Amino acid sequence: MRIAATADLHFSPPSHTAVLDQLGKVRDEADVLVLAGDLTNYGLPGEMEPLINALVRLRVPTIAVLGNHDYESGKQEELLRMMTTAGIKVLDGSGYERDGVGFAGTKGFVGGFGRGALTAFGEPEIKVFVKASIDESLKLERGLSQLRAAKRVVILHYSPIAATVSGEAPEIFPFLGTSRLAEVIDRHGADLVIHGHAHHGTLDGRTTAGIPVHNVAITLLQGRQPAVSYRVFDL
Ligand SMILES: [Fe+2]
Ligand SMILES: [Fe+2]
Repeated sequence: MRIAATADLHFSPPSHTAVLDQLGKVRDEADVLVLAGDLTNYGLPGEMEPLINALVRLRVPTIAVLGNHDYESGKQEELLRMMTTAGIKVLDGSGYERDGVGFAGTKGFVGGFGRGALTAFGEPEIKVFVKASIDESLKLERGLSQLRAAKRVVILHYSPIAATVSGEAPEIFPFLGTSRLAEVIDRHGADLVIHGHAHHGTLDGRTTAGIPVHNVAITLLQGRQPAVSYRVFDL
């Protein structure tokens, strides 16, 4: 299976033609398209609708997770319904199998990496915050445990490792992801992990167990030589 992946389109209606130009050839190059969150800029149905129209015209099976920007207006449920109605598979703590490949996905959350990960100690506000991070890890665990396929792809918006956010200011690393997600990935195993969110991070990294992790934020891909709008992974 050839998997095209991108993230952080931050779509707003004026960028309609640009997206069609950017993704127009995906059908020739890949069997599925993965969108790793921040599909819209402000999480508005008025942004999602033209994006869906553009995506449907690509005629490629599409699998997505939402990102923090898609939550900005509190309309994430509506966005999810719109996408599902259009035939886009949205993963939110769920698994999905297609042509012998399993996909597990969830948005993920902030929280920090390794010894720097925030723990649920002290004020109730901290505990609520950390719980949101743990809940996303549990959702990923649920998605992965639903899969029976031998080959497995994890789709996240937030990063599970520090290596692929490297390039951003170190002060904001804890807001770009959490290694709680990587612990789940390493425990369950996967062949490929795709995420976005760190617009100025690093393309490639690995979990502690050696599972490849790729940051596919479109800003990062377009900074490559030659510039691309998505990466294609062979599985
Ligand atoms: Fe983004
Ligand atoms: Fe984001």
